[in-house]
Amino acid sequence: MTKNEQKFALITGANGGIGQALCKTFTEEGYEVIATDVHEQPTESLIFSRYVSIDLNKLVESESYATDRTNEIKSLLPNRELHALINNAAIQILGGVDSLTRADWNQTLNVNLQAPFFLVQTLKNELEACRGSIVNISSIHAKLTKRNFVAYATSKSALSGMTKAMSVDLGAKVKVNGVAPAAIETEMLISGFSENREGLAKLNDYHPTGTIGEPREVATTALFLANSNTRFLNGEILEINGGIGNCLHDPD
Ligand SMILES: NC(=O)c1ccc[n+]([C@@H]2O[C@H](COP(=O)([O-])OP(=O)(O)OC[C@H]3O[C@@H](n4cnc5c(N)ncnc54)[C@H](O)[C@@H]3O)[C@@H](O)[C@H]2O)c1
Repeated sequence: MTKNEQKFALITGANGGIGQALCKTFTEEGYEVIATDVHEQPTESLIFSRYVSIDLNKLVESESYATDRTNEIKSLLPNRELHALINNAAIQILGGVDSLTRADWNQTLNVNLQAPFFLVQTLKNELEACRGSIVNISSIHAKLTKRNFVAYATSKSALSGMTKAMSVDLGAKVKVNGVAPAAIETEMLISGFSENREGLAKLNDYHPTGTIGEPREVATTALFLANSNTRFLNGEILEINGGIGNCLHDPD
């Protein structure tokens, strides 16, 4: 592959369960993956080309930090072209109306919503230079949620809304789409059920597919959106939820 044919993808939240699958899938497709996460170092099993440590909360709060970190990313793009930006990092602070603090809200909206915006703003020229793609990883919580998820659910609704609005703003040169997964079998999710295997079985059964999703399935959906030559596929949020979003849950 010559330098001009090299494709670059920037993936945030790379050390996480879905982030690792995204990095692997995009690498296998031939992308040079610039992986980024808040940690100083990439996680051991991560497959990537370059790693840049970025705290997305700080990126929103400090313009000088943002310039410094994004200049490092730009320096890794030999032709000043970024083919895919996958906004995958997120935090999930649980709490209800009585307990959420201002700090909880700021952190949630900074990482889950504003950081994706400012990354796009900063890297817009590089994305436009090669008619690149943005894929925002939203969530089923953008539409259907449960108690104590008010901050997370609000941030994901806003991320889905921003995806649509940005597709209007950037549409001629950059495609902007989203993926909205329901429960995905990450290590973290599984460890949450370590004392309750029955609960995990019930969660799987609850989905019309009989299983929850796999990180790889989110990654291949994001790759499809980023890689597809279908430029008309713009401003869409693909729901990947095993059909649970179509279920009516009546009391027994
Ligand atoms: N796992 C699921 O069931 C599920 C379902 C729907 C949507 N999602 C979405 O998928 C994406 C990935 O989730 P995951 O399950 O892999 O979660 P995860 O917690 O394993 O990964 C999230 C990553 O974001 C990073 N991150 C958090 N704060 C950061 C900050 N300040 N700066 C930089 N990076 C930061 C974390 O370090 C982590 O590596 C998220 O957007 C999440 O909302 C996950």
